[in-house]
Amino acid sequence: TLVRISDDALARACGADALAAAFEQHGCTVHRVSSWGMQWLEPLVEIDGKGFGPATLDDVAAILDGTSDLAIGVIEDHPFIAKQQRLTFARAGKTRPTSLEDYAATGGWNGLKRAREIGPEQIVEEVLHSGLRGRGGAGFPAGIKWRTVAAAPGSQKYIVANADEGDSATFADRMVMEGDPYALIEGMAIAGQAVGADQGYVYLRSEYPDAIAKMNRALELCADIIAPFQCEVRVGAGAYVCGEETSLLNSLEGKRGEVRAKPPLPALEGLFGKPTVVNNILTLAAVPHILGQGGANDYEALGMGRSKGTMPIQLAGNIKHGGLYETAFGITLGELVNDIGGGTQSGRPVKAVQVGGPLGAYLHPDQFDIKFDYEEYTASEALIGHGGITVFDDSADMGGMARFAMEFCAAESCGKCTPCRIGSVRGVEIIDRMRAGRKRDTLERQPQMHNTPKQDRSAEDEVTLLADLCDVMKSSSLCALGGFTPYPVLSAMRHWPEDFSDNPDSVR
Ligand code: NAI
Ligand code: SF4
Repeated sequence: TLVRISDDALARACGADALAAAFEQHGCTVHRVSSWGMQWLEPLVEIDGKGFGPATLDDVAAILDGTSDLAIGVIEDHPFIAKQQRLTFARAGKTRPTSLEDYAATGGWNGLKRAREIGPEQIVEEVLHSGLRGRGGAGFPAGIKWRTVAAAPGSQKYIVANADEGDSATFADRMVMEGDPYALIEGMAIAGQAVGADQGYVYLRSEYPDAIAKMNRALELCADIIAPFQCEVRVGAGAYVCGEETSLLNSLEGKRGEVRAKPPLPALEGLFGKPTVVNNILTLAAVPHILGQGGANDYEALGMGRSKGTMPIQLAGNIKHGGLYETAFGITLGELVNDIGGGTQSGRPVKAVQVGGPLGAYLHPDQFDIKFDYEEYTASEALIGHGGITVFDDSADMGGMARFAMEFCAAESCGKCTPCRIGSVRGVEIIDRMRAGRKRDTLERQPQMHNTPKQDRSAEDEVTLLADLCDVMKSSSLCALGGFTPYPVLSAMRHWPEDFSDNPDSVR
């Protein structure tokens, strides 16, 4: 019997390795494949296209003799999979991650082959035409970035893949690198072809050891196929701010991961001062599809407004069906959380949903009609970021979450600019005071930080002060870390003001 079990880090953390060994002991042949992305079912066992999960060692015999009650039927027909539009994740669950044979058999390298035939200008034209926007969060058109680098003077240029996936609730980059590493490598080689770069780097966070191993192995195996393009993995030490492109470049150069002022744009003066494409993993991994077999047209036809193609959305937090859901832009938040995600894991009502990682706004269930689209989110003072969705039930303390946003910013700040470095610390203090109430002696211990004498300060003053501080951070921080921290803070304050009032348990 041929048994397929994922070797994705999440499946492994849930016991997939021991399970695979147990099936082998029962005389089965086991293929370790990429994950389908139905994480609540991992480890998921696949036999003849049918799934069983989440499986434990005790289930092995029953799965093999057909009496297991973990059967979910044909995996491809499962509603979570059947309703998706998988382009970037077309191979998920279906191929052995580092198998060149599996990759080539599923359309692998077609995009690179075509890119070599049509040449740099036409590649950039097709990426522009596809409407592909940067998937790291800012949504900048990939084709325009590539055109800028292609036109920049200089014989040495670089492609840098930003794999410093640091947002809460995000794992799509990891799943690409662990499950379909050649898709990323092919996308990088195509980018190299487009802009005239022969060297690429994958900047990968140290917290992803499986992805590091898979990428290194894959690069070794496909070196001849991508030549003369060369690519190496560089491991970051795990600072959130190193996901910001200029800080990442500093870190790649062996310097402290501190943000650089822009301009100059990395597209003109990036790695070692040379023109550099810095793209997110999902941006680059979308490219082979776009370049292969006229994919640009079908990509452009999907989505809404200026948000074209598909987005691999990641469902996490307190949610029943957590996992990877790739679909065209335009899907509502309510559909994602309730219909696809099945509501909360705890069974309690949803209180808040944070979209876009720790710097994303908290959305209220009243906003569940919002469509997944860069512009719709911006108009609602929110961001889709890297597509991570964290669900909270009604036991969540949103004042505490707002405090956490400021605390996170203080801990992760690179220290270069004052609104972020100092503002975030002051933000924690203000929220503590709001939550502790003026009566508490914590107030007396706080440093003086406002012209109003503290004995005259009311709760309303603290709200105004926090709003003021957020305004300054938004408008005068050098990068998104300080500049976007106000989003979770202000949205929490707007929707759940009661969680900011005097609460005896709130001061940690
Ligand atoms: P940005 O808007 O400054 O730039 C976006 C990209 O376009 C950059 O690569 C920039 O160099 C490039 N660019 C801008 N103008 C250009 C031009 N004329 N020619 C060529 N390239 C040009 O945004 P930034 O600071 O890079 O990213 C902010 C975003 O990062 C936020 O929206 C947030 O969602 C996201 N973010 C993502 C995280 C993650 O883990 N993926 C974590 C934190 C924030
Ligand atoms: Fe550094 Fe924060 Fe300023 Fe960004 S906003 S440059 S992380 S201090």
